[in-house]
Amino acid sequence: MARADGQRTHRVALIEGDGIGPELVAGALAVLEAAQARVGGFRVELERLEGGAGLYRREGRNLSEQSLQTVRESDALLKGPTGLPDVRRPDGTEAGSLGGVLRTGLDVYANVRPVKLLPGVESALKLRPGDVDYVIVRENTEGLYLSRGKGVGNEQAMADTLMVTRTGTERVARFAFDLARKRSGAPSDGVRRVTCVDKSNVLASYAFFRRVFDEVGEEYPDVEKQHLYGDAAAQALVMRPSTFDVLVMENFLGDVLSDLGGGTVGGIGLCPSANAGDGRAYFEPIHGSAPDIAGQDRANPISQILATAMMLDYLGEAEASEAVWRAVWRALETGALRIGANGQPDGGTRRAAQAVAEAVGAA
Ligand code: IPM
Ligand code: MG
Repeated sequence: MARADGQRTHRVALIEGDGIGPELVAGALAVLEAAQARVGGFRVELERLEGGAGLYRREGRNLSEQSLQTVRESDALLKGPTGLPDVRRPDGTEAGSLGGVLRTGLDVYANVRPVKLLPGVESALKLRPGDVDYVIVRENTEGLYLSRGKGVGNEQAMADTLMVTRTGTERVARFAFDLARKRSGAPSDGVRRVTCVDKSNVLASYAFFRRVFDEVGEEYPDVEKQHLYGDAAAQALVMRPSTFDVLVMENFLGDVLSDLGGGTVGGIGLCPSANAGDGRAYFEPIHGSAPDIAGQDRANPISQILATAMMLDYLGEAEASEAVWRAVWRALETGALRIGANGQPDGGTRRAAQAVAEAVGAA
């Protein structure tokens, strides 16, 4: 952050991404502009970079070294979804996914995924807005995903190794406990609680994850600890979501359970995330690029808008961040913004973002 004309200036790298990415990012930028105008005192300087499947198709790489360097030098990166199902590497995995180059590459080890029941959304859960309000902290640099691009085998068999390290687990567990300290506990009872999700009844790597979690937990006597197996957690997130505050888990478990969580609160189109490390972070929706509806003004921009709100908070602009969260809440509550049962906003992407931008201005 630098100060010019008495204004705080934040340098933010921007990757629009593939599929619905550009539409979502356009919506989020309209809201960002409204928040800047409303709150004042800061300016976001954007630097657009190319990255993802489109670039890979043309150049054989999903991000240039120079762009990666720009990301490293920026205060944060705002990113749309990347990847396209038909753009694949020779090993069959998606080439446009930037997870390898950004998550592992930048060592942003905590993937922070808030799951919050907002007003006015269709949810199978018979709960009131705010009754679901937990954060999944997904380990972001190892676990099963460490094997990215490194699977071994032949035409008869293929293996990916799930690696859990002490350092990797200690730091993500600490992140989860520190986050719990900043929050006000689970909606059901107001108790600050971190739930360790694993499969320690079957796999040694997960048993190790649990052991290291327990060790770190001793440093946090003020935070309640809980353990759940991944399968039991899937059920509990549907049947008693209000009892959760912060959950921490291995990479792949976090991938699956965060989509499950999204499915209980109106769909992943409403779910933002932060990829955070020590002194570095980037922000994106938790979902993919949905090429089937790309360019049709149908996608839900809320995930991208809330990812921008998370970025503002990270940049030290807590007031602007809260203004965006409140605006989303209010737009949904008043019906200015309606999300259909299919997860898509009535009136389209642009209209939805405009409704939120207007609600920011009206705050
Ligand atoms: C996510 C996404 C990515 C992942 C995909 C797009 C590679 O599903 O961020 O959850 O699996 O991590
Ligand atoms: Mg996912």
